[in-house]
Amino acid sequence: MSSSVIVGTQWGDEGKGKVIDIMAAQAEVVVRSSGGNNAGHTVVHGDEVYKLQLLPSGIFYPDTLCLLGSGVVINPQGLLGEINGMKERGITCDNLRIDARADVIMPWHLKLDRLSEDFKAKQTGVNVGTTGKGIGPCYADKADRIGLRIYDLCHPELLKTKIMQTGELKNLVIEKVYGGEPCDLDAVYEEYKAYGEQLKQYMADASVITFDAYKAGKKILFEGAQATLLDIDFGTYPFVTSSHPIAGGACVGTGVGPKLIDEVIGVAKSYTTRVGNGPFPTELFDELGDLIRERGHEFGTVTGRPRRCGWFDAVIMRHAVRTNGLTSLAINKFDTLAGIEKLKVCVAYKTADGHEIKDFPVTLEELDKCQPVYEEIDGFDGDLSGCRKFEELPEKCQKYVLRLEELCGCHIGILGVGPARDQVIFR
Ligand code: GDP
Ligand code: IMO
Ligand code: MG
Repeated sequence: MSSSVIVGTQWGDEGKGKVIDIMAAQAEVVVRSSGGNNAGHTVVHGDEVYKLQLLPSGIFYPDTLCLLGSGVVINPQGLLGEINGMKERGITCDNLRIDARADVIMPWHLKLDRLSEDFKAKQTGVNVGTTGKGIGPCYADKADRIGLRIYDLCHPELLKTKIMQTGELKNLVIEKVYGGEPCDLDAVYEEYKAYGEQLKQYMADASVITFDAYKAGKKILFEGAQATLLDIDFGTYPFVTSSHPIAGGACVGTGVGPKLIDEVIGVAKSYTTRVGNGPFPTELFDELGDLIRERGHEFGTVTGRPRRCGWFDAVIMRHAVRTNGLTSLAINKFDTLAGIEKLKVCVAYKTADGHEIKDFPVTLEELDKCQPVYEEIDGFDGDLSGCRKFEELPEKCQKYVLRLEELCGCHIGILGVGPARDQVIFR
């Protein structure tokens, strides 16, 4: 019996999908517990590349139950598109279950995401740079207790009542506050009723399934989406998503207690990336940043936006070790850094008054006044993609890994040397 939470430690896209896919071979249950189709998790099997947004990365194993927990927000059209796409590629998705409590992303959430972003851009010159998937507005309605849940979606009478009630209010906001086009509520009802009919077969109680599986001694994986620095409390607020991607969110978003969690694995890259707006202390604005972007194919899985690239930041990593209670790290993309002569790692931040701080600042106002303090480390050469043992890595790469481990204060148990399932080194 064991259960593991896999979380992102930076600003997302660390390669969580790959790590889950590898670990799911031994798991009987994989649970997504937060976020929605703002996530994009890549799984590579030989020549086949799968980009999963809502489906858990265990979906390829027919005997592994794949759950979408109560903390996930579900775009039914997006989910059905993913399921049908998988079916066309021979993956049945019969192992999928969706918690009846999960909130549904409605057309007004998509409109309001866009309208709010446009308003913020006009008002202050900068918006969050969301994925435009209606995530924030959907979680806001959940907190306001006016959201529609999967249970409602699958019960047409309830669905109609709730669409008419909530829809009326949302249309008022769209029209009167933003001057936007209201949603046609009758059409929304017809469209969503049809989604409910198709998704009803997957509706379940993810909390009960997870708890029963744990009691039966089965291995459970909690698949984190987004990442620590995108957490609504512990990220770079307000440039964050609207959920709790940190490890604690796995419990709340599934409906199980923290004592059920045996280990927490934090996934990182050997450098740092970010999509969307907001602070990024170690960001590279020169050719080196461009080189890493090109070499690492750093373009958003969901939106295709170029990812901002920068050096590995140990201050951020220590923040992730603490806020997630990490038991180990999985660091990907060492292969991407090969050939860069000198690598830099941020070991601390220097404040405006010249103090060095080791902990990530609490507010953006404080962070804005900080400069990264770098340590320079020799780079390494060669093709790492065939290495399967730590000792097979170039010596300078081994040194880089050991220094990262020391600075993070957390064991690095998995190293990524390529996107495929087998391109990892276990330590
Ligand atoms: P996730 O959102 O955390 O699941 O990560 P994404 O799938 O959005 O982005 C990670 C990208 O890096 C994907 O294109 C992966 O296929 C790729 N990837 C993962 N691990 C490695 C690695 O060790 N080396 C290389 N070169 N690519 C990797
Ligand atoms: P995975 O799971 C990277 C970012 C968006 C934006 C901010 C808020 O693939 O790592 P939202 O649409 O959530 O309201 O956008 O969060 N963002 C991500 N960045 N990876 C993700 O997911 C992300 N999910 C959201 O770019 O800056
Ligand atoms: Mg991603």
